[in-house]
Amino acid sequence: MSTLNVGLLGFTGTVGSAILAPLVQAHKDSKLNLVILHRETSDLSKLPSGVELDKRIVELDGNEIERTKKAVSDLDVIISTVNGEGIYTQNFLLDALAGSKRLKTFIHSDFGVNWTVKEEANPALAPLLTKKEVVKKAKELGVPITSVRIGILDQFFFAYKFVGTDIKENKIEVYKESLKNLLRITSLEYLGYAISQLAQTPEKIANKTITLYDHEPTGKEIVDVLTKIHGTPTQIVEYTDEQYQADLGDLIPAIGAGIRRRWGDGNWDNEEGKIEKIEVDRWKGANFEGLVKQYL
Ligand SMILES: NC(=O)c1ccc[n+]([C@@H]2O[C@H](COP(=O)([O-])OP(=O)(O)OC[C@H]3O[C@@H](n4cnc5c(N)ncnc54)[C@H](OP(=O)(O)O)[C@@H]3O)[C@@H](O)[C@H]2O)c1
Repeated sequence: MSTLNVGLLGFTGTVGSAILAPLVQAHKDSKLNLVILHRETSDLSKLPSGVELDKRIVELDGNEIERTKKAVSDLDVIISTVNGEGIYTQNFLLDALAGSKRLKTFIHSDFGVNWTVKEEANPALAPLLTKKEVVKKAKELGVPITSVRIGILDQFFFAYKFVGTDIKENKIEVYKESLKNLLRITSLEYLGYAISQLAQTPEKIANKTITLYDHEPTGKEIVDVLTKIHGTPTQIVEYTDEQYQADLGDLIPAIGAGIRRRWGDGNWDNEEGKIEKIEVDRWKGANFEGLVKQYL
């Protein structure tokens, strides 16, 4: 039996469920002991059957710090994939983790791109600042923390057409130089695998910001793959500066605009400088064409 206790909070969500599967496998392989942290209302039927997992309730509000402390005191790593209000409530988890003798790192729910100070000053993007405040508080409390930055999730690019490209309609939307620049795409499967691996060597990622993505096609490469798959020329539609400005007015479109700008400008960095891209051993994922076909 492993001595490494890894807690996962947010296992029912998009990112959380992608991390759950490889963590359960690592648990079965005795590489770690997986502890499911959940709200009273979380849907536990989404947990896989046939495997014994330790499940603990954490209600993240100011009244439950002592109870949360008990639930997390023996954890070496905590991975949080909460969203919405849950991002802010991670501050209460930090209160419970302060002074923990076991914790090697808290992988908080970042999983975003490297937003710039100017972008964060946009009121529409205010929720991004909440993630930054979580990191600030962790540092103040001396809680070891890891920020994981990614590209656009494959599901958001392909299935939700988050930046305008519609692979089923054989259409790509381009902004500025995105035909020649690289788009960072993080497949959920890779993200889950990578986090489950990194959680097993927490000392390597504690108090660091890292980047994870497994595909980096140029717009032209996306066009070539779509043209090959469909057997007809891919339609190229332009996203304009006017659309970019209009999209900055609301949270979800503004996130899409921010990703389009990075791709169009070929610049994914912010004031933090170059963020280390981590390569994870023994990952065997699909090539880009294979990934596209998963979403057709
Ligand atoms: N780069 C990208 O393309 C991209 C795309 C999407 C998301 N993200 C980021 O990934 C992270 C996770 O997003 P997601 O889309 O996976 O979220 P999601 O699908 O909406 O899932 C949210 C999860 O958070 C839990 N949760 C919600 N409110 C909570 C609270 N107040 N306290 C505790 N748990 C709470 C939910 O648990 P219950 O089961 O208890 O409700 C659920 O498991 C976020 O930081 C998001 O910004 C990045």
